[in-house]
Order: sequence, then C-alpha cells, then structure tokens
Amino acid sequence: MTTPLIIDTDTAQDDCVALLVGLLDPEADLRAITMVAGNVGFDQQVRNAFLTANVAGRLDEVPVYLGCRSPLVRPWVSAENVHGDGSGGLDMDRSGLTTASEHAVDALVRMAAESPGALSIVAIGPLTNIAMALAKDPSFVANVKSLYVMGGSNNGRGNITAAAEFNFYVDPEAAKAVFAAGFDVTVVPWDPLTLRQAVFDQERLDRIAALGTPLSDFFTRVCAATLEFDRRVGIDGTTHPDSLTAALLLRPELARKVSRYHVDVETAGELTRGYAAMSWGVHGLEPNARVVEEIDTEGFFDHLLKVLSRPTEPNRPILGL
Ligand code: RIB
Ligand code: CA
Repeated sequence: MTTPLIIDTDTAQDDCVALLVGLLDPEADLRAITMVAGNVGFDQQVRNAFLTANVAGRLDEVPVYLGCRSPLVRPWVSAENVHGDGSGGLDMDRSGLTTASEHAVDALVRMAAESPGALSIVAIGPLTNIAMALAKDPSFVANVKSLYVMGGSNNGRGNITAAAEFNFYVDPEAAKAVFAAGFDVTVVPWDPLTLRQAVFDQERLDRIAALGTPLSDFFTRVCAATLEFDRRVGIDGTTHPDSLTAALLLRPELARKVSRYHVDVETAGELTRGYAAMSWGVHGLEPNARVVEEIDTEGFFDHLLKVLSRPTEPNRPILGL
C-alpha cells in the first residue's frame, strides 16, 4: 500500500530532490505540493517545483498550492546566498501552467479532513503553513496521520546562526506552535544527523553523475551552488536534510535510531532566535516528538541513486541542461 502525503516546501536544492522522492518513489502517493516562504524568492520556488515535476515527467499531475509568502510575524529571510536560485539556473517554457486556486493552508486543512488519520505531511521549509492550518482548524492536528519536520539541531550547531537551523530561524513562532500542538511528529535535525550522515562526498556525487539520466544531470545542477557554499564553510559535500525527511516517511527502515524528546523553539532570544531546545528526558518535560538520531546512510544513498536512475522523460525541454 502506498503512503498518501503532501510535501510542504520552500523549493530549492534539496527540496527539489525531496520532491523527486515524493514524485517517483513507488511507495509514495503524493497528493499535493504546498509552497511556503523560505529558501529563495517565493515565485522562484514555484518555478523550481514545476521544473522538478517536469524533469520527473510528471508535470501537471500533482497540484501546486501557493501558501504563506512570509513568516507569521517576521520579515522573510532568504538563503539565496547558499542556494542561488535553487535550480542551478535551469528553466523551462512555463506557458499554460497554473497553480491551484485554493490557498495552500486551506488545501492542507481540507485534504487532512477528507481522509482523517490517513494523510502524512513532510514539512521541509519554515512551518508557517502548518501553523496557519492548525490555527484555522482545531481538528487539523488529529486529522493528520504523521508530520515529518526537517528543522532544528539536536543539541548541536545551527547553520544560519550558531544556535539556529534555517527553517526554525525563519519562522520560530510557527515552529513553536507546531511543537505545542500535539501532532504525531518526527524531526529530522540539521546537526548532528544531516551533517554527519546525509552529506554526499565527491565519490558519491560522481556515482550519481555517472548515471547519465535527466534526473542525475538535474541533481548535479541543482546541488552545484549549495556544494560550493558547503565547501566554503567546511562541509565536504552536498547536504540532504529534505530528501532524507521524505525518504524516512516512505522508507522507515532507513532510520536506525529514533528517540523521544521534548522539543520547543526559542522565539524571544536575541542570539538564540529559532533555537530548538531538544530535551531528552532529564528535565522533567513530557516528550512531544520523535527525533531521528541515526540513519542507514548507505541505504539512503542507494535509495536516492535508485530514484535518480529512473529513465524519466521530461514533459518539456529543460533549458540549460
Ligand atoms: O537548514 C536546512 C534547511 O534549510 C533545509 O530545509 C534546506 O532547504 C534549507 O535551506
Ligand atoms: Ca527546505
């Protein structure tokens, strides 16, 4: 049986790879892509999502809903210095393509209510849309089967600041509300998990490039700007927190160690905005989330290799590839 899911995304670099997982893993039944303000300009993120669906040969099959264009209470913060435009300068003819008319928050609420307890959400951007959905409909939390969140660090370093990971930093109020809401939530953190176990070094990148498929060429291009950035900051390869989050929902056997934590997010601190406090049981706080601590790195890489080796036919020519 396939897994019905929605991917809530700020589509750039690894968000594109996560969408490929959602679009092409035979275990996935991707019902919608919902867009949230994050990595790069909102309209560019939408272009990146369409481009990704096109490379997967699934353009126009999965609806793209436009969500919140800014965080709940703060101005948008970009990661364009990390990701460039998020798609390696690739483009396509977009004539005739349309996004869904319903707002992403309404679509999330509606689709969860249509199949209570069946739909999972993979949230790989700031949590603005998810927080709005739970504010809008008190039954949203109970209607969602499971929420997989990429964000925070588990007693480790941040990336946008020393304390905070990007997704939680951009909209800390939303992240705080989501962890207080009572979802069945699984967290895929930046440090140490992503930094230690979901980085593809040159040898792995070469194996992907050697596939020679439209998908592997696309992967190499969308990851190039981030790879350059990562190397400048001392990370020896491309980082894959978002595709890992999607893969863990669909292939739970890729998780080797998952522990219960109480997760809360700092909204008031000056130096610690967006810091995720992950308490492991000694502080007298009830666990409210599962945090992934170890994965089968080789299995995750093999899974992506399998996805990227699929000989898809893009629906429209990819300009620049
Ligand atoms: O901090 C990692 C997160 O922010 C990921 O979701 C990635 O898309 C990003 O820039
Ligand atoms: Ca993301």
